[in-house]
Amino acid sequence: MAKTKKTTLKDRLKQHLIKYDKIKKIEKTANKIQEAAKAKKHIQNHNKIQLYSTQDKILLIGEGNFSFAKSLAEKLGTGKNILATCLDSEKDLFTKYEDCQDIISRFKELGGTVMFSIDCAKLLKTKAIKNQKFTKIVFNFPHAGAGIADKDRNVRINQELLLSFFNEASGLLTNDNTPKKITKKKKNLQKNIKKRSKQYEESDSEVETEVKSSENPGLLDFDENGDDLGYEDSKPQTNQINTNVDGEIHVTLKSGEPYDSWNIRSIAKKSGKIAIKTTVKFDVAEYPGYEHRRTLGFKTGLSVGENSEVVNKSPKTFVFVRKESLRS
Ligand SMILES: C[S@@+](CC[C@H](N)C(=O)[O-])C[C@H]1O[C@@H](n2cnc3c(N)ncnc32)[C@H](O)[C@@H]1O
Repeated sequence: MAKTKKTTLKDRLKQHLIKYDKIKKIEKTANKIQEAAKAKKHIQNHNKIQLYSTQDKILLIGEGNFSFAKSLAEKLGTGKNILATCLDSEKDLFTKYEDCQDIISRFKELGGTVMFSIDCAKLLKTKAIKNQKFTKIVFNFPHAGAGIADKDRNVRINQELLLSFFNEASGLLTNDNTPKKITKKKKNLQKNIKKRSKQYEESDSEVETEVKSSENPGLLDFDENGDDLGYEDSKPQTNQINTNVDGEIHVTLKSGEPYDSWNIRSIAKKSGKIAIKTTVKFDVAEYPGYEHRRTLGFKTGLSVGENSEVVNKSPKTFVFVRKESLRS
């Protein structure tokens, strides 16, 4: 009887040990899976450039000294998918911005293309551009630079500039032609945009979520569940340009007056072609080598450098998409 009890205890101990071993094994596997997921996320975040990737075909409008173009190309590791333009003629540009010659050479070395005398109000009439489609059309710190002292007139002139830009640029955006099932993310995005537009119309105040990319790399805008609304994580990470996407227009503006009075959202609405998708904090530190320039030019010793014109003005990038792409 006593022997049976002893055996039973031994058996039970053995069973416990087997169970313990199994639990340990499961824990080990779970840890491994967790580690692998973390590593994958880490790699994804490192490979991700906040708004731009090597899959984009990018049109830059209104470049100053082309330092944004160069910085972006360096960041992407290539400029072959970037067409950078400015309003000035080549001669005028070289006179206005002493440093631009070297910058442009470097950008071209990286495969970038440069075009001078490109007016954002005439993009659809510009032979070299009108037959192309772009996934991102970017105008950083647009300014007519007309030197008009009257505030109201100044605001109006810049609003007109934005309106013509929106009208033209919207005709150059790529379309996502794949038949889509509406994903939960997309549904949330549409709901969120509708809600925001309604709130905006009602209060005329800005309703937006701003997420610093360094805090949440790769994620730009979130719903209450923390889901990325505007940008999908699941995009294939290849270096091939993918034009089968809904293109975006990016306009970066300083905050405060007179820029707030430009009322960029209303101008986009007025165009009847585009709608706001999100806004993103524009962090100059994300574009090493980028040096903001004023429309009138830059003279060493006379003009203010080191981006001091923009860093203290909480600049943000307004991301617009064609209205239709939100309905699909
Ligand atoms: C404040 S500067 C910003 C320059 C540059 N994007 C930067 O971030 O340093 C404004 C730019 O808008 C450009 N611009 C003004 N009107 C334009 C137009 N109609 N088409 C294209 N660019 C224009 C000016 O030539 C100037 O380069």
